[in-house]
Amino acid sequence: MLKNNRKTINDKRIAPEILPREYGVAWPDYQLLDAGDGKKLERWGAVITIRPDLQAHFKPGWAFAQWLTMAHWEYEEQSSIQGRWKSLKPDAPEQWMITYEKLTLALKLTKFKHVGLFPEQQANWRFITEQVVAGQKLLNLFAYTGAASLVACNNGAEVVHVDSVKQMLTWANENRQLSALSDIQWVLEDALKFAQRELKRGNKYDGIIMDPPAWGLGIKGEKWKLETQLSSLIASAYGLMNPKAFLIINTYSPKVTLADLAESGAAYFSTHHMQLKQLWMQAKTGKELFCGNLLRAVK
Ligand SMILES: C[S@@+](CC[C@H](N)C(=O)[O-])C[C@H]1O[C@@H](n2cnc3c(N)ncnc32)[C@H](O)[C@@H]1O
Repeated sequence: MLKNNRKTINDKRIAPEILPREYGVAWPDYQLLDAGDGKKLERWGAVITIRPDLQAHFKPGWAFAQWLTMAHWEYEEQSSIQGRWKSLKPDAPEQWMITYEKLTLALKLTKFKHVGLFPEQQANWRFITEQVVAGQKLLNLFAYTGAASLVACNNGAEVVHVDSVKQMLTWANENRQLSALSDIQWVLEDALKFAQRELKRGNKYDGIIMDPPAWGLGIKGEKWKLETQLSSLIASAYGLMNPKAFLIINTYSPKVTLADLAESGAAYFSTHHMQLKQLWMQAKTGKELFCGNLLRAVK
């Protein structure tokens, strides 16, 4: 398997020029302003942050001094798994809210470099809005703070939201309340375990959304490693799909390439319309940032 994403593009199994890209696009309350030298500059509503990003392995459009004049917060990495937020403006808020279409989402500085939203997922929120029909039942695995769940719920779907971290369910429910949406079934469980249990129960869904991390832990410490459990996850998800259901899986790991997704997908979705894409964001300065790989299957 491969070291870092730059090599992903040179994966011999898929010629780089045919690697279709899908862009998460800016919206009034979010914009990737610039990226480069291993960092990215983002605007979330009125708050601007500087965060590390391995994929920003190119020169930025603006000078870092300009970034520092614009930003409220800079995340300083102290190790690969921890760091600290440094305030760059006296009135920099530690918590604030932004909107996405009709949704209101709470953002907070977390002890990692995250603030509670993966903006590149806008590409999948768009897709979910196009696919979902009111009354359908959707399963969101590794569902984090729930933006995708709320988009589906806002389009009339009944949503089952699964995450293994209680604080994430609480945060997602806070976003639901802020967005004045009807209730969602919150499930505190290991995603793969829940999917396999739903299979035994014979439950089916009209849509399955999965945004698994490269690695993670279930509620009882079950180890989640994307590269070793990807195919069992896709197998379980496939078994939970109604005949006309759609599936989205988004991965962001140097150990899982688009070709790996293609291979896993081909095993189950040969009769579906399968989309295999790279997820990118384009900055205000024109810089382009790789944000992951995407497999979608639609009947
Ligand atoms: C951060 S999100 C989305 C991943 C994101 N695209 C990334 O690349 O980091 C991953 C979510 O999966 C949850 N998670 C991690 N391991 C899990 C597991 N075994 N079962 C269920 N949820 C899990 C985390 O709590 C988190 O909310």
